[in-house]
Amino acid sequence: MKARTTQIVGWGKYVPERRLTNQDLEGRVDTSDEWIRSRTGIRERRIVSQEETSATMAIRAGASALRVAGIGPRRIDLIIVATITPDHPFPSTACLVQAALGAGRAAAFDVGAACTGFVYALGVANDMIRSGTYDNALVIATETLSRIVDPMDRNTCVLFGDGAGAVVLQATRGDGGILSVSMGSDGSGAELLIQPAGGSRFPATRETVEEGLHYMRMNGKAIFRFATHVMPRATREVVRKAGFRVEDVALVIPHQANVRIIEAAMKRLHLPPDRAYLNLERYGNMSAASIPVALCEAIEEGRLKQGDLVVLVGFGAGLTWGSVALSWTAPWPLEKVSWGHRIWRRLGFRWAYWRLLLRRLSYRILRRR
Ligand code: UT7
Repeated sequence: MKARTTQIVGWGKYVPERRLTNQDLEGRVDTSDEWIRSRTGIRERRIVSQEETSATMAIRAGASALRVAGIGPRRIDLIIVATITPDHPFPSTACLVQAALGAGRAAAFDVGAACTGFVYALGVANDMIRSGTYDNALVIATETLSRIVDPMDRNTCVLFGDGAGAVVLQATRGDGGILSVSMGSDGSGAELLIQPAGGSRFPATRETVEEGLHYMRMNGKAIFRFATHVMPRATREVVRKAGFRVEDVALVIPHQANVRIIEAAMKRLHLPPDRAYLNLERYGNMSAASIPVALCEAIEEGRLKQGDLVVLVGFGAGLTWGSVALSWTAPWPLEKVSWGHRIWRRLGFRWAYWRLLLRRLSYRILRRR
């Protein structure tokens, strides 16, 4: 019998409607559209509305991924959410997603590996599926970076945006799917990209707020140098582990931090620049959410063909880095789903949601007693 493998069978994304353009930023800090475009490749980013949070975006991206997979929420047995901007320190954002989607049978937890979070979460879910512990996993990355970026710090406010991306992973005994995973870290660089306060080291006080310690701080130059070295290294490693050569890679889907980092990495890999998928022009850096949103758009633009060797590669705070090599298996465009099936599926979604809502109400009633 063939070994258990993990396939991506569903994908989805959500980005907020509001756009923040480079011109908008020109009116706020000492910067220019020309500087931002030439130094980063970014033209605009999406910013959440007041009602939106990391969880609300994750729920929408996750629901889209379930729809594409054609799987009801009660078949999901694992939810992992990668985020550095959770709704609360606890409970996990994954638990909020679990309840909202009605995934009543799923274990749920968050992974914190900053911009590498989605790759780490995929690695963990892949192992849990291959080992036979779970069969269907929903892996989501979601970030509301606009809530931790100092709007007056031109070093960071021009770079980051909000959004969420998700995939459904399924155990199969077919060929392809996730071939190899590589992850790494170097905590000696922890201070290069950090949100100093809000944790147990500097809990929130009037002073931490006044000193702006709840905003992220970044040494951009050092992160730039680190990224241009680690991206090609992580790509080479995961491709070698999968038993291929770098020139076999059909598409690299990199963390969307800076077009210059991606171009430098592709040069070091001796790959043509157009083999890297880019969408940062429209979204900026969405930390962990960058890779799954880019993956979704690459699929929907027809950039992935069945059998293609694809590499997802990320890097970020920690410092952390990671890569996943996969042989693409899902068809595109998707087969049409009949009306009856669609209505049946929607009813299933609603039923799963109401079950958990009733349970939540019963907790409230018990608390009042
Ligand atoms: O997900 C991981 C998170 N972070 C990253 O990946 C960020 C990695 N780093 C970068 O992408 C780049 O280092 C930046 C985009 C942050 C900066 O680009 P750079 O080419 O490294 O610029 P720099 O820091 O060397 O600054 C060049 C000049 C400086 O002026 P002087 O000293 O040459 O007069 C800066 O003060 O550009 C100035 N500058 C700006 N000017 C206009 C810095 N930020 C801005 C700005 N607008 N927003």
